[in-house]
Amino acid sequence: MLKASLQAERRSVLSAVDPRIYGSFIEHLGRAVYEGIYQPGSPFADENGFRTDVIKLINELNVPIVRYPGGNFVSGYKWEDGVGPKENRPRRADLAWNTIETNQFGLHEFMKWTEAAHTSPMMAVNLGTRGVQEAKDLLEYTAIPGGTKLSDWRRANGQEKPFDIPLWCLGNEMDGPWQMGHKTAAEYGRLAAEAGRVMKMTAPGIELVACGSSNYYMPTFGCWEDTVLDLAYDQVDYISLHEYFSNAADNTPEFLAESVGFDQFISAVIAICDGVRARKKKSRKINLSFDEWNVWYHSKDQDKEIPHWITAPHLLEDVYNFEDALLVASLMITLLRHADRVKVACLAQLVNVIAPIMTSDTGAWRQTIFHPFAMISNHGRGEVLHTEVVSDAYECRHGDAKYLDAVVVKDEENETFTVFAVNKSLTDSMELTADFRPFAGYRLAEHQVLRHEDLKAVNTEAEPENVKPVAGSGAVFEDGKLTAVLPDKSFTMLVFKK
Ligand code: AHR
Repeated sequence: MLKASLQAERRSVLSAVDPRIYGSFIEHLGRAVYEGIYQPGSPFADENGFRTDVIKLINELNVPIVRYPGGNFVSGYKWEDGVGPKENRPRRADLAWNTIETNQFGLHEFMKWTEAAHTSPMMAVNLGTRGVQEAKDLLEYTAIPGGTKLSDWRRANGQEKPFDIPLWCLGNEMDGPWQMGHKTAAEYGRLAAEAGRVMKMTAPGIELVACGSSNYYMPTFGCWEDTVLDLAYDQVDYISLHEYFSNAADNTPEFLAESVGFDQFISAVIAICDGVRARKKKSRKINLSFDEWNVWYHSKDQDKEIPHWITAPHLLEDVYNFEDALLVASLMITLLRHADRVKVACLAQLVNVIAPIMTSDTGAWRQTIFHPFAMISNHGRGEVLHTEVVSDAYECRHGDAKYLDAVVVKDEENETFTVFAVNKSLTDSMELTADFRPFAGYRLAEHQVLRHEDLKAVNTEAEPENVKPVAGSGAVFEDGKLTAVLPDKSFTMLVFKK
């Protein structure tokens, strides 16, 4: 049996958790919008056409923000196409996904849906095929109370008061050659600064996210962030990070070690933000918005067979397995371990498209990755403690990967603290010990374990509960000292209450 230990001192707080790190993402892509969250005529739809079975599952995930409308899609999007009477809305060719966009769901429907789903919007403007004027127009439409052409158009379209949209993305993945209107760092940095300036002039309270690199391995990574922040530091609040993981090589130890690379990516971007800050002698820090992250590879071959120029194709419909859920747990632990700088994060995406929730005409179900997200989102609120992990490690392409990934989060208001822990060993269980004596008077209230013998086990509509958390046993918490056994290849959550 492996042995590992945790050190976390009650008073040694790394940071409050910004609940927005439990965000997600809905893009006009595949069946995310149409047949995902919106399906008029479905037996599950409410009077607005919103799938109520999907909303119920989203509420289980406890998602405070949802990024919209893209993604690559936003870089060719005209938001005006999606407002006003539905019969007048144009059908358009979406070049991001070679799909026909009907525009039957747009800004007003999304805002109404966020209310129904008890979440809030993180909106993106098109800085690919469009620019400063269109960003200004969208802010006039959404944020000005009335008395102008565009704000009065909003009112005529049924929304009397301004929309409450506190967080905006300045485009999407503008460093990527696949992006409509792809730009150099200097071109984008200037555009982000000027678009951001007019957006904040129109709606002073908003926060803005500048595009960072599309992933850690982009050839321009590092230089891109440095140049963009050099040009737009004063206008922006966050820089974005995106990353998707694959186990196409079927090497599970390497795959589970991707959280080490994820951690290195975050640390590198923090270093660049702080380097620019030092150079500019600024006191204000730029924080991080990891606004696209997930596993994405299962659907890549099948997507090549999907015909172009249809509506709501079955694109990016990854069927997630148990090992994907283990990596998702580790990635979320990593986000928490950077809670002092990562203030926003979005699991990409939410429904049908590389998503924790899948739908058919007959129902909706939870994929494997749903479970670690729900467990951590619901229990990982409050403050992250500096958590030292002592564990054996194995070699991976990023260096050393500890068998144990773990973090401790406390919630003084609700008098709880929670341990999230992944044992990455595929063969050995692990005896975990921790000294939590400062939490005198607390007891172990909940012990949940997500494990499956088959790393490739999946959930389907026919068998939706094949992979799900079950109650764990055998953990002892006495005199402030914890001893628990973490099974091989497992994710464990231990909730302590006063
Ligand atoms: O989430 C799917 C796509 O991945 C997004 O549209 C894009 O931003 C990223 O490359």
